[in-house]
Amino acid sequence: MNLHIAVLPGDGIGPEISEQGVAVTSAVCEKFGHTVSYEYAICGATAIDAVGDPFPEETFQTCLRADAVLFSAVGDPRFDNDPTARVRPEQGLLAMRKGLGLYANIRPVETFDCLIHKSPLKDDLVRGADFICIRELTGGMYFGERYQDNDKAYDTNFYSRPEIERILRVGFEYARRRKKHLTVVDKANILASSRLWRQIAQEMAPQYPDVLTDFMYVDNAAMRMLQEPRFFDVMVTENTFGDILTDEGSCITGSMGLLPSASTGDHTPVFEPVHGSWPQAAGQNIANPLAQILSAAMLFEYFGLQAEGQLIRQAVRASLDANVRTPEIQVSGAPAYGTREVGQWIVRWIQSA
Ligand code: IPM
Ligand code: MN
Repeated sequence: MNLHIAVLPGDGIGPEISEQGVAVTSAVCEKFGHTVSYEYAICGATAIDAVGDPFPEETFQTCLRADAVLFSAVGDPRFDNDPTARVRPEQGLLAMRKGLGLYANIRPVETFDCLIHKSPLKDDLVRGADFICIRELTGGMYFGERYQDNDKAYDTNFYSRPEIERILRVGFEYARRRKKHLTVVDKANILASSRLWRQIAQEMAPQYPDVLTDFMYVDNAAMRMLQEPRFFDVMVTENTFGDILTDEGSCITGSMGLLPSASTGDHTPVFEPVHGSWPQAAGQNIANPLAQILSAAMLFEYFGLQAEGQLIRQAVRASLDANVRTPEIQVSGAPAYGTREVGQWIVRWIQSA
């Protein structure tokens, strides 16, 4: 296969983890006889500094031309505490989602046995938890009409039938490929938008008789994730609820630094770590590259290249078993490895596999 990948390293630790993601991608392509080419583009604070726009037109065009985007992270504290900032790095992310029509955000919540002790939950509760949260990414309050003056403000949680149908379909299809259990998360006891979601899900469910479909209010889902995370298989929800629940999901496993994600839709799909740009660690060679590397695994799998994705997953597991780990997950007493050293170890493992 010929793969043309847009690489968007972004801000903070982005460039360092990006380098390892690219190295692993190249190693896998070489192993399996695929040709791969890369085109780099700027985004986030880096792009604001360079051209005053967090997602410049040129970057957008680079993404459109590519088969996939390998994205790292955006964000910079210079903008966080400045309410007067005219542009923010995060706007680049929203522009990319909207521009590429990335309506489905797939965030796996997975545990790694050797990291379970890092979970804030009790071991026996979280061990084996393995679900996917499918978050609608281009609608709802993030993009609805909003207004603000000194005395009042509102945001609109707008959803149309086609927007709801297409994301629910992604949910049903994922459930079908997994344990056939779909939980639709909403707030249908209060919100009209949620009632429409629930109505459409009920209309669609008979088309998926092999999938057990249930419904849960979002407040209850937040609680259930802590009490019984193994209950879930595939969860589908709107943009804002998904934003909140996936942060909760990423931390209950204890493996936040290891979680990748995929955003797919109308145009080029984007693969990126769930974690952010960790500006304090930039340039120090201490950031964990595994979420980025596992994002590359999701990239291959998106194109049906299952063996390629599996090889990356095996290599990551091997590195953890060999205690080749960055400081935040290293076992006490063992030497910590750098971002580059972990990435290079995985590259060599793949080459000699
Ligand atoms: C995420 C992030 C973004 C979001 C921010 C950075 C705009 O929190 O990807 O979950 O709210 O969607
Ligand atoms: Mn978020």
